[in-house]
Amino acid sequence: MFRAFLLLSSLLVSFSVQETPPDPSQDSITDYAPQVNVECPDISKAPLIRTWDTKNQSIHPQEEEYLKKRAEQVLPQAWNDWLGNGSRMGYDLSDHNISWPKIGLALPGGGLRAALFAAGSLSGLDARNETAKNAGTGGLLQVASYISGLSGSMYFNDFPTLHDLVLGIGDNLGGWALDFDFATPDGPNLFSTQNQAWFGSLLWSVRSKADKGINFFTNDTAHGAGQLWSKTSQIPSVQQFKTPFPIIVADARPVGSNLTTTLDLQATVYEITPVEFASFDPSLSAGMNMTYAGTHLSNGFPDNGTACVTGFDQVGFMMGTSASLFNQILDFAGNAIQGWSQSDTDGLLYILGEQLKEVRTRADDVANWPNPFKGINPDTFQDANAAWLELIDGSSNLENIPYNPLFIKSRGLDVIVTIEGSADDIHNFPNGTGNIFTKERLSTILKDTHQPFPPIPSSIDEFVSTGVNGRATFFGCDPPNPSAYPMVIYLPNAPPINGDDPITNTATFQLVYTLKHVSLFLDSAQKLVIEGFTPNANTPDPNFGACLQCAVFDRARMKATPSFDRSDICKKCFQQYCFDPENPPSRSELPNRKFDFVDPDPQGLASFFSRNKFKFLGGVIGLVVLIILLVVGLWVYNLSMLF
Ligand SMILES: *[C@@H]1O[C@H](CO)[C@@H](O)[C@H](O)[C@H]1NC(C)=O
Ligand SMILES: *[C@@H]1O[C@H](CO)[C@@H](O)[C@H](O)[C@H]1NC(C)=O
Ligand SMILES: *[C@@H]1O[C@H](CO)[C@@H](O)[C@H](O)[C@H]1NC(C)=O
Ligand SMILES: *[C@@H]1O[C@H](CO)[C@@H](O)[C@H](O)[C@H]1NC(C)=O
Ligand SMILES: *[C@@H]1O[C@H](CO)[C@@H](O)[C@H](O)[C@H]1NC(C)=O
Ligand SMILES: *[C@@H]1O[C@H](CO)[C@@H](O)[C@H](O)[C@H]1NC(C)=O
Ligand SMILES: *[C@@H]1O[C@H](CO)[C@@H](O)[C@H](O)[C@H]1NC(C)=O
Ligand SMILES: *[C@@H]1O[C@H](CO)[C@@H](O)[C@H](O)[C@H]1NC(C)=O
Ligand SMILES: *[C@@H]1O[C@H](CO)[C@@H](O)[C@H](O)[C@H]1NC(C)=O
Repeated sequence: MFRAFLLLSSLLVSFSVQETPPDPSQDSITDYAPQVNVECPDISKAPLIRTWDTKNQSIHPQEEEYLKKRAEQVLPQAWNDWLGNGSRMGYDLSDHNISWPKIGLALPGGGLRAALFAAGSLSGLDARNETAKNAGTGGLLQVASYISGLSGSMYFNDFPTLHDLVLGIGDNLGGWALDFDFATPDGPNLFSTQNQAWFGSLLWSVRSKADKGINFFTNDTAHGAGQLWSKTSQIPSVQQFKTPFPIIVADARPVGSNLTTTLDLQATVYEITPVEFASFDPSLSAGMNMTYAGTHLSNGFPDNGTACVTGFDQVGFMMGTSASLFNQILDFAGNAIQGWSQSDTDGLLYILGEQLKEVRTRADDVANWPNPFKGINPDTFQDANAAWLELIDGSSNLENIPYNPLFIKSRGLDVIVTIEGSADDIHNFPNGTGNIFTKERLSTILKDTHQPFPPIPSSIDEFVSTGVNGRATFFGCDPPNPSAYPMVIYLPNAPPINGDDPITNTATFQLVYTLKHVSLFLDSAQKLVIEGFTPNANTPDPNFGACLQCAVFDRARMKATPSFDRSDICKKCFQQYCFDPENPPSRSELPNRKFDFVDPDPQGLASFFSRNKFKFLGGVIGLVVLIILLVVGLWVYNLSMLF
């Protein structure tokens, strides 16, 4: 996959190079390929590998520094903007000596659906959206310290701003990848001059937007710089500590196992941060300097003084995050494109296959990362002898929610907010699977290194029968002490509370959405987050904003010196939204919900298909390329725009 992405990204890159005269003072955008045989730093003074004692973890000093600065310079104002004097929750915050709780957001993957769901939901938590702000939910996004994602959600962390980009601008960008007229306007030949020019102009539009003041593609940062994961720190908004610290999760298949089934819970879980490629699993407890990711190390040493690799990180995280997408398209295209004849399907598979044939190297269903941890903890680390790591999508062990980094003890999170767009059940709604598997892993393998999961239903059946997967739920409201486990605020994809047909439960591999559907989808997801629910009714809860604030704030209340009682408003909220294992709620409190997806714009797709069946072939390839463009180029850009 590594080369596949290199090829595709260099392809894209060539478009933009034609469009934009390169500025010699900036990194060339053609510097996409990793640099090999780079001089290594002096390992004796600055090791590339950091290890720690399982029982005494430390997070990376640069991460710590970032969070400290953010907590000092940005968060107090953000909290104040959101909670004000606390009157909405029934507190007077000026009366109390509190320190703000530490918040993390978890965004599961799941193709475009999970992406759109995350985008709409985040918009509902974003202070800059008036509707959300007035409802009291908007503001949570701004106070988060961490944001963690899996494959799909990776590039969709930027979707809230794509919202803007997609729906707000009109012209060429109007359709994002979802309208293939735009994806390959010159027909299926991706390589035609016109199509190349279009891709170039896409990049150009982004850039000209950036020129209006929001800067990624400006001279503030070297042109390519923000595209290197390790250079996130050079982005202006990051320099101002305006963004939560981002983390991606990837699983490793034990090398040589060739497993194609679900991984067991023993498999190593890695995290990719702007500073480090690391695993806090007790079996490894080590991290690699992100700048040099891609370098083979043995016991922390490179082969020789000039055996280092740099620039792997952007390609690397693309691989780690998107590899499965590629394969999913290949594997699932037949299913995803309903109504297609076998020959059309074959044609699509043929074209994608040809592209991949060029570039297949090692195991093609995984992202191959040079192993920097060779020789580290050989007694416990599963790949201590391997030259390569086989990374796969972070959901491959059924932990579809990227919780792992957020539960690490040394990060000390008080509250984890889950934007749950996983498709578990037959209707593509979540059924709790991700929570249950993470809880199990935390309570066994990770007991020494991670905080426990709060109490949740013990099985998927119970998750479903209590209805907690069908509406906002708070887990862990009443811990035996405030540090026993974090509060988990669970915001699942669910049918509209008013009994309308759902439009947010599309299949993971649905690759085509009309603009109208995208727009309605975002609104519907945002509504779910803002409205809460009213038991035994089909009306929104006007107090949900207050309730969400109560939940996010509650650990700070407990930890305040001196601590103080929960307000009546918050007590009432907790009765409604908290999961109490002693007194579980019931699905029957959620009447008249519809579960079958109904396409809100059927005409749109039907006519689109009849018009453009052939173009669609090219379009899918265009989509893949576009996604890569988005993954590489826009993620950081949009993150910086977002805050
Ligand atoms: C934990 O590690 C830190 C350095 O990271 C060290 O200063 C401290 O003494 C260690 N604590 C224990 C109990 O080993
Ligand atoms: C708290 O803020 C609200 C809204 O801004 C205001 O109406 C109220 O008077 C304030 N309460 C106190 C005690 O300052
Ligand atoms: C406020 O809390 C801090 C610890 O969080 C404590 O050190 C300090 O003494 C408290 N101040 C007052 C006035 O209680
Ligand atoms: C970026 O370049 C433009 C034109 O060369 C210049 O006017 C501007 O001041 C530069 N911005 C920064 C932040 O250096
Ligand atoms: C995995 O595949 C490799 C290459 O095809 C093969 O050599 C190896 O024996 C396989 N391992 C297992 C456990 O099947
Ligand atoms: C990576 O190594 C380089 C060279 O030693 C160093 O300057 C940089 O700060 C390190 N980065 C991290 C995140 O540790
Ligand atoms: C150093 O190691 C790299 C990677 O293994 C290799 O390509 C290079 O030839 C080596 N250089 C020397 C001088 O041995
Ligand atoms: C719940 O989700 C899992 C995995 O996502 C799936 O395998 C299982 O069949 C689902 N069970 C129910 C009852 O929906
Ligand atoms: C805020 O959310 C509403 C509802 O989804 C949407 O219509 C509106 O465009 C959003 N506003 C901004 C500024 O994003």
